[in-house]
Amino acid sequence: MKKIILLVLFFFVCSPSPSDPYSAFRPGELWLDDNGVHINAHGGGILWHDGAYYWFGEHKIEGRKGNAAWVGVHVYSSTDLYHWRDEGIALSVIKDDTTHDLREECVLERPKVIYNASTKQFVMWFHLEFKGTNYRTARSGVAVASHVTGPYSYVRSFRPNAGFWPKNIEEQQKEAPEKYRDHDYSGGSLPDETEKLNICARDFAGGQMARDQTLFVDDDGSAYHLYASEENSTLHISKLTDDYLSYSGEYLRVFSGRFMEAPAICKRDGKYYFIGSGCTGWAPNAARSAVAESIWGPWRELGNPCVGESAEVTFHSQSTFILPVQGKRDAFIFMADRWTPDNAIDGRYIWLPLLFRGDRIELEWLDEWDLSVFSRQNE
Ligand code: DGJ
Repeated sequence: MKKIILLVLFFFVCSPSPSDPYSAFRPGELWLDDNGVHINAHGGGILWHDGAYYWFGEHKIEGRKGNAAWVGVHVYSSTDLYHWRDEGIALSVIKDDTTHDLREECVLERPKVIYNASTKQFVMWFHLEFKGTNYRTARSGVAVASHVTGPYSYVRSFRPNAGFWPKNIEEQQKEAPEKYRDHDYSGGSLPDETEKLNICARDFAGGQMARDQTLFVDDDGSAYHLYASEENSTLHISKLTDDYLSYSGEYLRVFSGRFMEAPAICKRDGKYYFIGSGCTGWAPNAARSAVAESIWGPWRELGNPCVGESAEVTFHSQSTFILPVQGKRDAFIFMADRWTPDNAIDGRYIWLPLLFRGDRIELEWLDEWDLSVFSRQNE
């Protein structure tokens, strides 16, 4: 009898707890935090700091109105990437000042946080649209904190690199043709003559447009901001100042006229890999990928990294971030959002292992997977 009781006890102690469903990633399913609530960190990015991961993302609310910012940037922490603890709102929108850039109902998208070891500040960058401007603001917002989970204080918003030319501009591109000089494009698509528009020249004095964005810190501590610019037609890669609070004035135009958004980047074996999307609003499209030996290019496009069913719509999602997994060689997680614009809060997270296949990078759908795939990949 005693033996049976011991056996039953052993069974209960050793079998996975039914209240802990998370020992694997299940892309597209609800993902509950430590309070049992679906994680609310859309368009996010992850910072590894002092032994923990911190996931920052857009806090969405229910319904279509949830596509604007009513709350701010939510942050969660984790030590294993499966279980996430709700750390609250890192950056709040402003409710009682209708003149503030961050006033409630602005659009605050794709927040990313990096740590500056010299200033000991956590620096958050995000895409900001002032309330009611229908994506015409196209600014970068900056906020800082002395503690990783915040609270973050808003510093300012601005358009990048006012008064600076990109490294790779050609002389004839420095003049905006008269007929396009003050033209207001509604974003999304431009005529075939995109190159003739010289949007970079149009925006030289006031600063370049910046919409979908991400941050990247290189091995030498230099930080870069990648953002969809020039009416989304061309991506810019800008080096930040040493304190990570502003632009250095050094920047590159890439994928000119290719309308790439949702930028994500990582570095492996000295090479930079890029994943982005086409430009179709909240609807998914085929991802794009590229590689370069220097962040300043040349960048070589590698095509759609997705393979298999629904590859042409990135498994019904759009890239957000590439997360290097700590303590594992060549282990990177592709993070994407499956947007649900009719009920923004219900957006799902698509996390998949990034596979390095010869010259290419690939993404394959998995219903369920865990971090052991990386050990197998490197065996
Ligand atoms: C696609 C972008 O990637 C999203 O961040 C968001 O800006 C939507 N467009 C808005 O339509």
